[in-house]
Amino acid sequence: MSQSKSKQEFEALLNYLNEDLGCDLTVYKRPSLVRRFEHRMQELEIGDYTDYLEYLKNHPQECVPLLNTILIKFSSFFRDRDSWDYLVNSIIPGIITSKQPGEQIRVWSAGCASGQETYTIAILLAEMLGIDQYLERVQIFATDVDKDALLKAHRGSYNELEIVGIDDKILSKYFDKKFENNEQRYIINSKLRRKIIFGRHDLALDAPMSKIDLLVCRNVLIYLNSEIQATVLVRFHFALNDNGVLFLGSAESLLNSQNIFSTISIKHRIFTKAYNLTLEQYLLIRPTTRRKKKAIMNTLTDEIQICKTAFLASPFPQIAVDSKGRLLLANEQAQTLFGLNNSYLLKQVQLEIGRLLINFWSFNELKCNPRSTSFKNVEWVTDGNKIYFDIYITPILTQSGAILGANLTFINVTTYTELQHEIKCSNSEIARLTQELQLVKSVLNTTINQLESTQQELDSAYQEIQFRNELL
Ligand SMILES: C[S@@+](CC[C@H](N)C(=O)[O-])C[C@H]1O[C@@H](n2cnc3c(N)ncnc32)[C@H](O)[C@@H]1O
Repeated sequence: MSQSKSKQEFEALLNYLNEDLGCDLTVYKRPSLVRRFEHRMQELEIGDYTDYLEYLKNHPQECVPLLNTILIKFSSFFRDRDSWDYLVNSIIPGIITSKQPGEQIRVWSAGCASGQETYTIAILLAEMLGIDQYLERVQIFATDVDKDALLKAHRGSYNELEIVGIDDKILSKYFDKKFENNEQRYIINSKLRRKIIFGRHDLALDAPMSKIDLLVCRNVLIYLNSEIQATVLVRFHFALNDNGVLFLGSAESLLNSQNIFSTISIKHRIFTKAYNLTLEQYLLIRPTTRRKKKAIMNTLTDEIQICKTAFLASPFPQIAVDSKGRLLLANEQAQTLFGLNNSYLLKQVQLEIGRLLINFWSFNELKCNPRSTSFKNVEWVTDGNKIYFDIYITPILTQSGAILGANLTFINVTTYTELQHEIKCSNSEIARLTQELQLVKSVLNTTINQLESTQQELDSAYQEIQFRNELL
């Protein structure tokens, strides 16, 4: 069979599962998905995808064993012991001390499979806090997409093989031994379990938890494709408190996180929140089905595109900064004016813009008093030239009024300012000339007066001469 035909048949199979059985497997990495399908088909002695599609149509219950093959549910207690030790020694104490007395420590064990990872966290916290404080202060959410795994996790009952590696002291302290169905079972102590809420949650589709201090999601992302990984990481960012910690599996990385996390320990795959989410990332948080998500994303992408284009098309230099004062957008005019390029994005607005603003505006002020402001005729000396700007600053707020960032528009009013200056100079020149004219006028008046009196004198002298002539 040609490769492209087989690819088409595989896509048709995935489509059927998604559209008709509500089971979206496109979120998983394609090569391992293909391997797992083929494994299941071999078990059923089915040779190609089209036959398997027919089989699925006739046996809808086949979804369950198929999913069991695809969702690798292997887990164990204290898996990667070193990393758990690091968490206990270097991370959890910080989380505990950052909390006010009585404040809850919230943990999310995402992709918890049959519970071993969740109970590992619970045991470690109970050991560190003591069982009473554990009961009072800890809340653990344990989620997985697989209902069977969750059922087992909720039961918390493990066989001899599954408890291998747990030290005896811990075993006797936190597990009750019970002989069931001809085998020895180890059942998690009910007190420990009391603080754990188990629930079905699909990381690829559902909205995240919130206000989480420790998010443990190990050996799950590795199965998801890169687009879904990026979405899940954005949701994890949202889920975590500002100082919250993300603990991934030993083979996992944050390649798709676009730097929204920073590394605490790369060896142990422990991370914390770094940058704020961008508007586009924020939109990924909401829950939605894949199809709805596509439609919403398309509309939102269009809306964002309109806003962005309108912003970028402004004839005036404009920048937008986030709530931490970091550059989010700069139109071409602003880029040219301030010598910005993409490497400045998400960095503090410093350099030229900072120099321009520093004397009269601070972002903190805007945070305290989020109102539009403008500054007129702000002088800026660059390359020996004087430029004048009117600067308009508009806060960008959420619907509830919290500050998201600000928009800054710079209008070059140098020509106007120079013209005003020239008019001012001309006005004073006119005033000076008027005064001079006044002076000349009064000098002229005096001269006229003098001439007039001379004329009068001449007239009377002439009259006198005439009179004398008449007498002679
Ligand atoms: C290999 S197990 C990891 C178990 C545990 N975290 C550990 O490391 O020991 C992977 C788990 O991820 C779950 N999983 C796979 N896709 C998921 C999704 N989209 N949402 C939530 N859980 C998922 C599977 O059901 C499975 O239980």
